[in-house]
Amino acid sequence: MPFPQRRLRRLRRTPALRRLVAETRLGVDDLIAPLFVREGIDEPHPIGSLPGVVQHSRASLRAEVARLRDLGVPGIVLFGVPEAKDPAGTGASDPDGIVQVALRDLRDEVGDDVVLMADLCLDEYTDHGHCGLLTPQGTVDNDATLERYAEVARAQAEAGAAVVAPSGMMDGQVAAIRSALDDAGHHEVAVMAYAAKYASALYGPFREAVDVEIAGGGDRRAYQQDPGNAREALAEVAEDVAEGADLVMVKPALAYLDVIADARAAVDVPIAAYHVSGEYSMIKAAAERGWVDGEAVALEHLTAIRRAGADVILTYLAAEVAELLGG
Ligand code: PBG
Repeated sequence: MPFPQRRLRRLRRTPALRRLVAETRLGVDDLIAPLFVREGIDEPHPIGSLPGVVQHSRASLRAEVARLRDLGVPGIVLFGVPEAKDPAGTGASDPDGIVQVALRDLRDEVGDDVVLMADLCLDEYTDHGHCGLLTPQGTVDNDATLERYAEVARAQAEAGAAVVAPSGMMDGQVAAIRSALDDAGHHEVAVMAYAAKYASALYGPFREAVDVEIAGGGDRRAYQQDPGNAREALAEVAEDVAEGADLVMVKPALAYLDVIADARAAVDVPIAAYHVSGEYSMIKAAAERGWVDGEAVALEHLTAIRRAGADVILTYLAAEVAELLGG
């Protein structure tokens, strides 16, 4: 053969051609913005390791969600930073807890124009920083924790969450939450399960954002997944779908694109991927030094996550990308 039979460059020649044959599109419609709301503050507080992201006051949260709506971002997921923490994480299920108060504010502000999601976990609210209740020996008690998650789910649904998102990696959490919601008449509230959630070093900046320190320098390896395991992720995804999850999530995203692709192929519910705090901060830090083009890297990363099979992406880049894409 004197020259290649197929000249793949033909379809790469002009921007219009490239646009026409693009296999993957990143759109504002695919994005969910994670937001932090802190109890008892009047002004937003910056988060050092998450440049551009803040702990919101109630008022600044309302304004931010209205802005996201105007940018066309269809969903937000809320994390609370309570004033007081205790062993049972009481603030998570208190009707006057910060997330519940914020959800009522947001229903009032944007109604159903933005999908209001609530992260459902105890770690922001417990004084020991774990995602569940502790046994006297200091390990996380799976089944006792499920009862707390059921209470949190009910409180979040009462306050107006359209979607609750359990992130604690307890066995049976989706089933416990689904039945608690149904028993309370919240059949329409959906569950987005953090299904394959890894014990990742990329959550560091998030812990600063929610003021969480795990007691005694502990970690979450006894409930979150080992980064080397992929078959186990599929088992988690299958369990969560069987228990009634409406969407399933893989987290973090970039180091787990194989898991996203496997999950996409294995189940028919929408797949969410969480581009986590460390993934965001690494882009920002390198861009700040002029080492990479931050905007270009952001778009490349999010496009790759979509290409791997994620239908929706939770990302701190949501507003920025919505602006870039012309919202
Ligand atoms: C747990 C939770 C965490 C994140 C989301 N939900 C932290 C953890 O598991 O330690 C991390 C998100 C991020 O890093 O952006 N409630």
